[in-house]
Amino acid sequence: MVRRLCDETDARRLLNPGPVAIVTTDWRGTANAAPIAWTAPLSMAPPLVGAVIHPGRHTAAMIRFSEEFAINIPGPALLKQTAFLGTQTGLDNDKIAAAGLQTFAAQRIEAPLIEGCLAWIECGLQDVIPIGDHTMFVGRVVKVQAMDEAYAQTWLLESREHSPLVYLGGTKYAVLGDPLEAVIEVDEHGKLIAETPEEREEREEREAQEREQAERGDTTEQP
Ligand SMILES: Cc1cc2nc3c(=O)[nH]c(=O)nc-3n(C[C@H](O)[C@H](O)[C@H](O)COP(=O)(O)O)c2cc1C
Repeated sequence: MVRRLCDETDARRLLNPGPVAIVTTDWRGTANAAPIAWTAPLSMAPPLVGAVIHPGRHTAAMIRFSEEFAINIPGPALLKQTAFLGTQTGLDNDKIAAAGLQTFAAQRIEAPLIEGCLAWIECGLQDVIPIGDHTMFVGRVVKVQAMDEAYAQTWLLESREHSPLVYLGGTKYAVLGDPLEAVIEVDEHGKLIAETPEEREEREEREAQEREQAERGDTTEQP
């Protein structure tokens, strides 16, 4: 195993993926939308979330003026539209229309919500914090909606189309998937049992199957 030294700027991509957000804004009847990968939950009570946005983006000005924004969470069906919204500014361009996106009215704010997304978070602007070369817009969550098929207390990840899109960097994206359940068991000394005998058996079976497949040159996926 080789440990490779990375650049300090790689930290941001190693901390991805989280669901990519399309941040929508509205100011005096003109709406805009931009994909934002740097978002974070910040507080439970009050419920606060952060969107880290370069001050040069039109979205940053729109949030400052309107003092609100919405976070729309797309699935893989909106891959191209999400990427497209990140290629140009909405300063002098109706990007939402150019992307062929439909919107619907939010419940508590003016910013529109994007049809076809999996979840929507409406925020009032709570704080603006300059951080390095970006600005953290702290949103006070005022309404949250999610698709039943996609979310129930956690992302369900039951189907690809209802799983959130995550951003890896450049033009690369992924779909969140393969949910795992962390069952924590400890031995009599309080030490974590990293692998139970049953898990070991399962792993060995899986590895044997993979070896067999590789030997046959069979690259078709197991159902
Ligand atoms: C997937 C993706 C994620 C992005 N994440 C961020 C981000 O976290 N913060 C940011 O300032 N810009 C981010 N960008 C860049 C903006 O979306 C891009 O500059 C966009 O054109 C800004 O539009 P606007 O000027 O209409 O606000 C991202 C772009 C893409 C494609």
